[in-house]
Amino acid sequence: MNISNRVNQIKKSAIHEMTRLSKQYDDVAFLSWAKPTTGTPKHINDAVIEAINKGLTGGYSQSEGLPELREEIVRKLKRDNNIDADISQIIVTVGAIEGLAASVLATVDPGDEVILPTPTYSTHITQVKLASGVPVLIPLIEEEKFALDIEAIKKAITPRTKAIMYCTPSNPTGTVFPENTLRDLGKIALEHNLTVITDEAYEYFTFDGSKHFSMASIPELSKNVISNYTFTKTYAMTGWRIGYIHADEEIISQIKKAHIPLAICAPVASQYAAIAALKGSQDCIKEFSSHYLKARNLMCERLDILNSVFEYNKPEGSYLMFPKIIGDAGNDSITFSKNLLKEARVSTTPGIAFGPTGENHIRLSFCVPEEMINKAFDRMEKYFK
Ligand SMILES: Cc1ncc(COP(=O)(O)O)c(C=O)c1O
Repeated sequence: MNISNRVNQIKKSAIHEMTRLSKQYDDVAFLSWAKPTTGTPKHINDAVIEAINKGLTGGYSQSEGLPELREEIVRKLKRDNNIDADISQIIVTVGAIEGLAASVLATVDPGDEVILPTPTYSTHITQVKLASGVPVLIPLIEEEKFALDIEAIKKAITPRTKAIMYCTPSNPTGTVFPENTLRDLGKIALEHNLTVITDEAYEYFTFDGSKHFSMASIPELSKNVISNYTFTKTYAMTGWRIGYIHADEEIISQIKKAHIPLAICAPVASQYAAIAALKGSQDCIKEFSSHYLKARNLMCERLDILNSVFEYNKPEGSYLMFPKIIGDAGNDSITFSKNLLKEARVSTTPGIAFGPTGENHIRLSFCVPEEMINKAFDRMEKYFK
């Protein structure tokens, strides 16, 4: 078999392994899904059916995306992210994932180092490896609600450092990095001429007054930041596979060279869905957000009862949280999660899936119906008694 070292070095995903195992049991309570369980809003579906019936969706679009969609994205970036963009600075992508992959490929040469505050979304680490880059994992400060460790990031910079890659709000910790910390990070990027690749998939889901901040809103950083967004979480559009990148025009024209061989263009039917999502009522975002807030509060209340098993930081964003397992049982989070599945029929994600600093944790998702949370915790209370 001829398998590249790039691919060979990548371990099987613990997330997919848990999903596979979960399917072996009946009546599992799932807290491992990181995808919205609500359907895509009807007005979005209807607009796509209309576009299909009009025969608009059968061909490729411009590789950077339909101009009408990019115009709507520019409006959204101004309104919600405080970013002054032009349509020449946008590429519509196959979800945030393809945008992130193209961003990394356009930035990283073999052997270049990319700083990733961890625990983080494991795909970021994989993408750096696929570009033959070297992931440099810098632990978040758990005692400070998984804050960015600016001093440790500064110390980790070497002549090979090319980029910093992060998601806020965070998968898996639910942290929202505050504006002042991101401004500090931006200064470091400017000083060392680093590219910052952002993943803002959960931008609309913040709680308790915490606010999402987009680094690209800092004008001095226009040549340093590549921002990645998606429709997946905001409009419950997981399966449509549609997102977008914003960056300076010169950078975008280089990223496009990576985007075309990865995708040619984003699915055209999904581009029409995205136009409808941006043009239509935004009420669904408020509804999702208030559901997630209620679900988060319920999950925290239920976790409080299990305070001899877990300790946790209350997440201020996303729909995920990352409790720490108290004692030695957490030293092997894969076994811990497997046992929980086997013995209690509760599916969780082992923390090790999010980098070595994720060990001793599990990731729980609260983008599920409240009944699912109650079912899972009723079972865990019995199991840990
Ligand atoms: C942080 C983060 N980024 C990106 C994605 C994937 O986004 P998309 O469906 O737009 O590719 C996910 C999905 O779980 C995620 O959690």
